[in-house]
Amino acid sequence: MSEWETVAVEKEDGIAWVYLNRPEKRNAMNPKLHYEMLEVLDRLEFDDTAGVIVLAGKGDAWCAGQDLKESFRDLWDEPAELKRSSWAAQEWRWRRLYTYPKPTIAMVHGYCFGGAFTQLIACDVALAAEEATFGLSEVNWGTFPAGLVSRVLTEALGYRDAMYYVLTGATFDGRRAAEMRLVTFAYPQAQLRERTEALARTLLEKNPHTLAACKDAVKNSARMDFALAEQYFAARSLALRAVDPDARRQGIEQFLSGEYKPGFEPYSRSDQDQ
Ligand code: COA
Repeated sequence: MSEWETVAVEKEDGIAWVYLNRPEKRNAMNPKLHYEMLEVLDRLEFDDTAGVIVLAGKGDAWCAGQDLKESFRDLWDEPAELKRSSWAAQEWRWRRLYTYPKPTIAMVHGYCFGGAFTQLIACDVALAAEEATFGLSEVNWGTFPAGLVSRVLTEALGYRDAMYYVLTGATFDGRRAAEMRLVTFAYPQAQLRERTEALARTLLEKNPHTLAACKDAVKNSARMDFALAEQYFAARSLALRAVDPDARRQGIEQFLSGEYKPGFEPYSRSDQDQ
């Protein structure tokens, strides 16, 4: 897929590597990138050859946040386009990505600033280079982390860390990001791609319908009370069986006949080639 200017998609054995591709601008997000990312996510959602999505960045940065010139200053006198591109920005970075039915991994190296935190937190798993540089720089250029950043920040960080970094704009590295649980793990930069690929391969071995249910269960129940969550899980479980009637049956039968240990590995799927 090479029809996009600001995004590059490379598919490899079930993994879709999606690169923000404005390296000369440190992958700052302009309106075109927002529109193209919407198209890319639409395309990959229904592409059976893409089982896991990795969101990465070309060049020296993961993403330097919103393009302060093209997404903001150039649109000061164009309210209609500002509104449309702001919608696209929120749509792909949060509403689409957060609820995406396939597993998503953020692979962060180099810079990750401001608005980039939205898609970082929307991804299911985030792996970072220990050497990466993160920052909520908005306070340094006269505003606060808006869009949705201040809100989604508290999905990952606790109140104390979120407030400290929002108020100071202080930068921090990948190790600190992992310590605060902003990212899942941090690795030396030289290992980042290999570790990301290994994780993607682990996910590709699982039943994709089951993975979608896992995502729904964790994400949707977070703000439910216990009674509602129980009801939701019962209904989601029925929905999973409707879409994939044999999944649990195969998994349990294979365990009981001694073919594998679910504690350590997934069952063999007869639907693997579908
Ligand atoms: N918006 C618009 N342009 C940006 C940008 C952004 N967020 N981040 C980087 N760029 C552009 C620079 O203007 C420069 O363009 P030019 O070559 O046409 O002059 C180019 O990308 C390279 O940036 P530069 O600052 O020269 O690179 P650097 O490696 O020395 O520094 C950053 C990189 C990311 C530390 C620095 O560019 C920066 O602070 N960017 C703003 C980050 C930010 O606050 N993001 C939050 C926005 S929500």
